[in-house]
Amino acid sequence: MKQYVKLDEWRIVEDSFDPHNHEISESLFSIGNGHMGQRANFEEAYSGPSLQGSYVAGVYYPDKTRVGWWKNGYPEYFAKVLNSTNWIGIDIRFGDEQLDLAKCQVTEFRRVLDMKEGHLSRTFVAVFTSGRAVRVEATRFVSIVDKEIGAIRYAITPLNFSSEMTATLYLDADVMNKDANYDEKFWEPVMTDPVSVVVRTRKTEYHLASAMQYDVVRNGEKVAVRPEVAERPKYVGHTLKLDAAQGVTTTLYKYVAQVTSRDHEQDSLLAVAGQVVEAAYAKGFDTLVSEQAEAWAKHWAESDIIIEGDVAAQQAIRFNIFQLNQTYTGHDPQLNIGPKGFTGEKYGGSTYWDTEAYCVPFFMSTAEQHVARQLLVYRHKHLERAKANARKLGFKKGALYPMVTMTGDECHNEWEITFEEIHRNGAIAYAISNYVNYTDDKAYLGEYGFEVLAEISRFWEERVQWTAHKGYVMLGVTGPNEYENNVNNNWYTNRIAAWTLEYTLEVAEYLRENEQERYASLVEKLGLSSAETEKWREIIAKMYYPTDDERGIFLQQDGFLDKDLTPVRELDPSNLPLNQKWSWDRILRSAYIKQADVLQGLFFLGHKYDLETKKRNFDFYEPLTVHESSLSPCVHAIIACELGYREKAYAFYLRTARLDLDNYNNDSEDGLHITSMGGTWMSVVLGFGGLRVAEGKLVLNPFIPGHWKSFSFKVMFRGARLWVAVRQGELVVTNETGTGCTLSVRGTDYQMEGNASLTIPLA
Ligand code: BGC
Repeated sequence: MKQYVKLDEWRIVEDSFDPHNHEISESLFSIGNGHMGQRANFEEAYSGPSLQGSYVAGVYYPDKTRVGWWKNGYPEYFAKVLNSTNWIGIDIRFGDEQLDLAKCQVTEFRRVLDMKEGHLSRTFVAVFTSGRAVRVEATRFVSIVDKEIGAIRYAITPLNFSSEMTATLYLDADVMNKDANYDEKFWEPVMTDPVSVVVRTRKTEYHLASAMQYDVVRNGEKVAVRPEVAERPKYVGHTLKLDAAQGVTTTLYKYVAQVTSRDHEQDSLLAVAGQVVEAAYAKGFDTLVSEQAEAWAKHWAESDIIIEGDVAAQQAIRFNIFQLNQTYTGHDPQLNIGPKGFTGEKYGGSTYWDTEAYCVPFFMSTAEQHVARQLLVYRHKHLERAKANARKLGFKKGALYPMVTMTGDECHNEWEITFEEIHRNGAIAYAISNYVNYTDDKAYLGEYGFEVLAEISRFWEERVQWTAHKGYVMLGVTGPNEYENNVNNNWYTNRIAAWTLEYTLEVAEYLRENEQERYASLVEKLGLSSAETEKWREIIAKMYYPTDDERGIFLQQDGFLDKDLTPVRELDPSNLPLNQKWSWDRILRSAYIKQADVLQGLFFLGHKYDLETKKRNFDFYEPLTVHESSLSPCVHAIIACELGYREKAYAFYLRTARLDLDNYNNDSEDGLHITSMGGTWMSVVLGFGGLRVAEGKLVLNPFIPGHWKSFSFKVMFRGARLWVAVRQGELVVTNETGTGCTLSVRGTDYQMEGNASLTIPLA
């Protein structure tokens, strides 16, 4: 754990420059807008270690798979989000000295991510070897109003000298991915003109056009410049010779458009990039900044969480919400949420089960309904690919969704995950039920949901195996806890499989009763037979679940109790993190758990289990869990809240919320854990707020950590937008819309009228 950012309710602040933290900060201070994202690389040159990252959503490269030992069924490629055109570049020189913080002495440094208004700024004083010192103040953002625009204000003041300054503003697409399997460059040149660069990806042929405009301002006046223009394939740069007098500030404004052939006709790209950047230039930096602030204010009005009495907790939840809103907006049906969003290369920018299991609830509750719906439809669009994937692995019917995907194809290439971590299918089914239960959008079931459910159910039907002495078993799987591979009867996988069958039958029944025609046509399209549904009923009735009756717990898998059950707290801390200190063999044989597994099931299917059952399982598994997946602490926080484990709940909350800010897992330099941020949001709203939906009512079961004065959150629920404020001793729910709904608070029902407020005492 490394804690160096300062506590602040609305901002992430770093107030000194330590090159050892540089790559972590490059992740933490990332900016994005759902269309593109930019790590906090410096505008000026930096020769120290850095992960360059400028990403454009949906633009990927299918990098040929590289594995030691090929196994049938492996994917041909791993899709990679691309480090694309460096649009922020501004090179600064005074004579032969180049501004480069790895080579200068940095005497002042402050970096601020302003989450309220959505921009990043940096102020520093750098001293060259010659003793000459400059102050720089830089601000930049990618617009959430015009998604194709990025803008920078870069102000330089010589502090103790006067000289000529050379500034080069450039666009450079001659960039690489750090994770390229064969050290190739993924971009090929298309054309360069004096203000634009057009490149295309190899193989996938996505075109990206970047265009820039700029101004130089001194003493409030635009300075006329005569740039020396360097054009070459994949690069254009404008070099300006400027007078730089001591104490006088020169401000560069750089506006860039990034447009792709995903959104526009390929032939028109150059023209579109020109128009987009021209429009931004015409508005000017200050107007763009204030539009940005206004647009963020709207986001915050819909999704802010306010925690009074705990700055660390407040800052962290805003950071998580900010990053989620920077990553996904629902504007493009082909996009999804990569585990690192636009903040790093790891995980290829692809879609994992993380979306359904951790992110859907945030978007379902804080954005318009179509946003979460879009995430679900995404999987429907991939249904044919998921069926093809099942066939490729030898299944005669059904669909197996990929563990990692960009376009529907499986991209993961480790057998224990690609072939075995099949529980992902369950999360996709679960998200449908979660969404429909929350929104009451039952039309989704007939339009898209049922087909996905039926094909997933068919996969489970074929994947289970009958044994006379146990019933239906599932062999050779990896559960959510990836520190066990190729196990038999992972309780979670068996349970989510049987649950999928139950839910699919329930949906079939609903459609049969309420949408006869559609149901008939779906049955025909799917070729669904009564023999199949009968088989599903039989599997549900006879599914085998490993349990330990003495302890009253579900067993993570067959044979789990043969392991050494020494709790993590008794391990010498020098063993942690296990994934960096232990051999894989030792990890696999141990009882240590990477992330919620049985507990993941008790979280998803919480309404089916009583508190005692949850408690016994939590008390058994939590002491064995090392939380080496970012997805783990949030689930533990939610269950700890339910069980009334106050201190634990708070500790898990901080761990999930500040996972990146405090670098708990020692890997934030790779990028932020964006999908676990959805889990952080859940740990406040579902955990401390105790929010659930049952029988059409919004259930609240709040508990507030002792040292918090209050916490409050916003949720949209079936047309109503509620502001739920929990104080020590009372709950106040305010309906900000005219649509009413029913609340159930600690077992009592309340009618929530439109535009009204309810105060409910909490014992
Ligand atoms: C977790 C998976 C998760 C993936 C991407 C892994 O470390 O074990 O559950 O899907 O990261 O976040």
